[in-house]
Amino acid sequence: MRLDRALGLNGLSRREAKDAVKRMRVSVNGSVVSDSARDVGINDTVLLDGREICLKEHMFLMLNKPAGYLSATEDPRGESTVMDLLPSEYLRRGVAPVGRLDKDVTGLLILTDDGALTHFLISPKRGVSKQYEALCEGMLTESAVNAFAEGIDLGDFLARPAKLEIISASPSESRCLVTVTEGKFHQVKRMLEKVGCPVIKLKRLSMGRVLLDEQLEPGQWRCLTAQEEDALYKAAGIEQK
Ligand code: URA
Repeated sequence: MRLDRALGLNGLSRREAKDAVKRMRVSVNGSVVSDSARDVGINDTVLLDGREICLKEHMFLMLNKPAGYLSATEDPRGESTVMDLLPSEYLRRGVAPVGRLDKDVTGLLILTDDGALTHFLISPKRGVSKQYEALCEGMLTESAVNAFAEGIDLGDFLARPAKLEIISASPSESRCLVTVTEGKFHQVKRMLEKVGCPVIKLKRLSMGRVLLDEQLEPGQWRCLTAQEEDALYKAAGIEQK
């Protein structure tokens, strides 16, 4: 595809793309380029201001979400959103979070501009698994493990059977892994509260087969690898375009 189209896919207008090339902000495979009409392909490394741009129809990112950011593209009250952690042109391109993490919850957040992928990944019918690590108050016991395995009645809905693995437990606090296949509002917090152990800290470790890259510091992000993208499309049960 043409370089200006590739820059366009990354949120730059045609004029901005031309201007970026003119101002020597764009390199292909290590050399600064001057022709915005030149061809670039999937095997080329294109940098804009030193940052690699995505040469595909769609963009897929993983963010290690820090506490204090909303999982939204914008907030009418002006609170910080995860989009504040990404280059501003990604918002223009239509990149948005796949599902939500609460403001105080940290860890893996996938973002994409492929709305169909998002739709199916968060559909309860697909039952894509999500694993969380939790620190909670009180002592988790086998009876909590059994309650999770049976499915917990949360009043307004019956949470599907989920997996609770206790990492450590003491009368004051416990650490555990929770794997759920749905994503209702405050679900993991409410499930742990229901078994008498309110959450102190919650971090998402995985979505389907995509694991949080522990090299990413809170607030850092990277593009997904081709294998991670495939895993997401498989989990969603749709074809990658
Ligand atoms: N469960 C919660 O309680 N909160 C989240 O953000 C995600 C899962």
